[in-house]
Amino acid sequence: MDYLEARALMERHLLDASMRKHSLASGAVLRALARRLGKDEEKWAVAGVLHDLDYEKAGKDGQMDKHGLLTVEMLEPYGLSEDVLDAIKAHNAENLGVERKTDLDLALTCGETVTGLVVATALVYPDKKLASVKPKSITKRMKQTAFARSVNRDHIRLCEKLDIPLSEFADLALNAMREISDDLGL
Ligand SMILES: [Fe+2]
Repeated sequence: MDYLEARALMERHLLDASMRKHSLASGAVLRALARRLGKDEEKWAVAGVLHDLDYEKAGKDGQMDKHGLLTVEMLEPYGLSEDVLDAIKAHNAENLGVERKTDLDLALTCGETVTGLVVATALVYPDKKLASVKPKSITKRMKQTAFARSVNRDHIRLCEKLDIPLSEFADLALNAMREISDDLGL
């Protein structure tokens, strides 16, 4: 499955505008991480855009302990590679009792999580634009635990296990999201 097919599938299953934006932002950050690490950009972007595919299903039924597992079931007909499916499960590792093992497992978790911090940081600016955000404000917000408190800082810090320092990761995520700022409305 290529990125455009993955995006279309995501839009069939996620109707909420902010979930769609979160999925697109995650795809963009994962593509940038793959480029940075010399990995398969299209595959990592697909993982990013699909990782929350079951969110409206799992959330509705109050089954966050199934979040990720349902996505893997939904993706069964499409023949995605095992490492993508494992990474999708591993982004909900704590609830599913699985481990994050591969670079893609780590990248999907830190990449999808950092999008939340970048959006929250942009929304503080008067124009609410990614263009106004400095990478330094993102790293500053990292330390303010009361700010965007639902954004898991430990998950963002997993970038360091990929040998990407936090400041570089903030820069990478911000730039990736700026490239799709129209889609994100930011
Ligand atoms: Fe997500």
